[in-house]
Order: sequence, then C-alpha cells, then structure tokens
Amino acid sequence: MIKNIPPMGWNTWNTFAENINEELVLASAETLLSSGLKAAGYEYVVVDDCWALRERDKDGKLVPDPEKFPHGMKYVADALHKMGLKFGMYSCSGAMTCASYPASLDREYLDARTFARWGVDFLKYDYCFKPVSADGKNLYRRMGMALANSGRDILFSGCSWGMDDTPAWIGSTGANMWRSTPDIFDTWDSVKDLFKRQYHILPYGGVGCFNDMDMLIVGMHGKGHVGLSGCTDDEYRFHFAAWCMLASPLMIGCDIRSMDETTKQILTDPVLLSIVKDPRGNRPYFLFYYGNEDLPVIVRALDGGDVAVGLFNLTDGRANVWVTADDIGVPVFSGKTLIGKEAYTGEEGRFVNGTLSKELPPHSCAVWRMKVVNA
Ligand code: GLA
Repeated sequence: MIKNIPPMGWNTWNTFAENINEELVLASAETLLSSGLKAAGYEYVVVDDCWALRERDKDGKLVPDPEKFPHGMKYVADALHKMGLKFGMYSCSGAMTCASYPASLDREYLDARTFARWGVDFLKYDYCFKPVSADGKNLYRRMGMALANSGRDILFSGCSWGMDDTPAWIGSTGANMWRSTPDIFDTWDSVKDLFKRQYHILPYGGVGCFNDMDMLIVGMHGKGHVGLSGCTDDEYRFHFAAWCMLASPLMIGCDIRSMDETTKQILTDPVLLSIVKDPRGNRPYFLFYYGNEDLPVIVRALDGGDVAVGLFNLTDGRANVWVTADDIGVPVFSGKTLIGKEAYTGEEGRFVNGTLSKELPPHSCAVWRMKVVNA
C-alpha cells in the first residue's frame, strides 16, 4: 500500500497505556466521528501495547485479553469499519513487547495472518527485547514480507526509534512510516528535543515511508501515561504545526472524549492540514539564519506552486524570526512576492522587501500557506 499523505488517527498509548478496553476504543472512535476529527482526516484507531494475554494459546497464537476485549479483535475491527474508520494494532519485533507482552519474533507469518483475519489495517511494530544477535533490518523485512503475504492490505508502521541506522534500511522493509525518535512526553522539553532531532534526518522521510516524529501530545494537559507537566496552548500549537510542516504522521494521543475546544481547533486547523496532506509530497527543508538553531524556519513547496512557510521560536524569550523570499526560490528580480493566510489566526501575511518576519512569543510559531503573486 503506497500512501502519499502521512497516516492520521488516534492511538491509545499516550493517555491510556495498559488501561485499554473495547468500550474506550469504540467510544473514542465515536468521538472521531461526532467531533469532526474523522472528517478532518483522522481515520486510524490504533490499539497500542497491552491488548493481549501474557502468553500465547496452545497453537502459538496471540490472544486478546478477554477482560479488555471481551468480543475479540474482529468485533472491534468490524465496528470500526462500519463507522468508516480503519483499525490499527501493535506488536513488536523482539522477544516481548515493550510492556512485556508476547511479541512477534519468529512468529511473524503467524501473527501477520492473525492480524489479517481480524481485519487489521495498520500494524505498529516496535523494537523492544531485540536479541543482540538478531539483525534489526532483517526482523523488519520479515514482518514486511509477512504482512505483504497476509492476504490483507496492512499499513506497516515501523517503530525502531531511529536505532541501528534505521533510516538507511527502513525503506527497504515495506514500512510506510518509521519512528525517527525516542518516545514523546507531554512537556516542552520533549517537543523541543524531538523537533531538533529532525534537523539532520529530514532527507530520509517522505512519500512511501514517512518520518514519524511520534504521537501527538496536543490536549493532554499533563493527564495520562506520558502526561508529566503538560504544555501551554502555544507549545501545543508549536508542536502540531511542526509535525504538520515536517509531514509526520499525526496520531492523536489525548483523551478525545473530553478534549477542550482549543485542542479541537489545533488538531483541525485547515491551513496546517492542507500542508500535511499536500498531494505533491515534496520534502520540507530547514533554513537557519546565521546558524541559529533556536530560530529555525521550515519551508515546504506545495502542489500548484504554493509554499508553506513556518517561523519557529524555540527560545525562552520573545524573538524576531525571519526568512527571505530568495531562500525559497522567489528572488526579488523575479518581480514576484508571496502572500497568504496564517494558520491558527487566519491573518494575511506578506513578504515585504523580500522578507517575512514576525516577533514571536517564547515556544511559539507562525505558519503561512502562501501564493506567489506579482510584486
Ligand atoms: C515503545 C514505543 C511507544 C509505545 C510503547 C508501548 O516505547 O515507542 O510508542 O508503543 O513502546 O509499550
């Protein structure tokens, strides 16, 4: 399955970890529909780690925990499909999953077939408890082949955290997305850390195998498994804008059943969603003025000649962030300039004297979707 836009959905892990069950999953799915999130493109409902019994059955098959999923996984899949959603599940390439449940090492073909029979559309595949003697790329190639021969179209979501030179081989495994980072936490420091890790790995993402910067913490406000201190709304806006600009898959991690209006507005911002879903699939790039890595600019050329421009302030103070039109391929001698609508505020922005600049509060950003027009 080739996806030309990053997969979008909701995942159980960030908030619920092992506290998952059928009722939670189906209620969250209903919320995707009733809140407009599905209409905005969030279509995968992913059950992460901790869904299985601690041991396989006598035939070696994975068994859903009957207390958590009393009707089994096919029932969940059927219910999601009826809602027009897609069903994601989780396993691991090592001896156990990260939370110590049975994993798929040496059972790749059996497990892929089981997932296919259940109606699974997406498999997140982790990297915990990997034997030292095993070769990571071969483990992912095995599962890639097993899924491709499972009889069902299953999106393969690699999760080896960028380890063991993942970017060099992940595209060869059949994975449609690859986790480039360690786990996210609901703090500004975590967002900043994962963001800065992208400076050197952008060339490895894109259509065919998207660079997954990990699940979203937008709207968690310190609640749930990776909750910690939480972030301000500006920091959540920064986080979401950055993930969209960098074409990361967007997997919501908060409890959407109780999300507030600001959270919903961030997650459905039409300007940012048009950028992350751009059909042209061009790779975004960073610009650093005078080498300053704390005031980065991200640019992405879009379908039809538009361009997305994002100014980001990683510092703890207010800062003026700027970009020149020359750097995005629209020099002054072209007789052209750029104008467009800002995400979140809807305000009009324009390059003046070949420059776009804005004073930004700490940990905030401004992103525009712009058109090239006569100067
Ligand atoms: C790893 C992954 C997380 C999550 C947990 C589950 O840490 O990176 O995204 O899936 O395992 O145990």
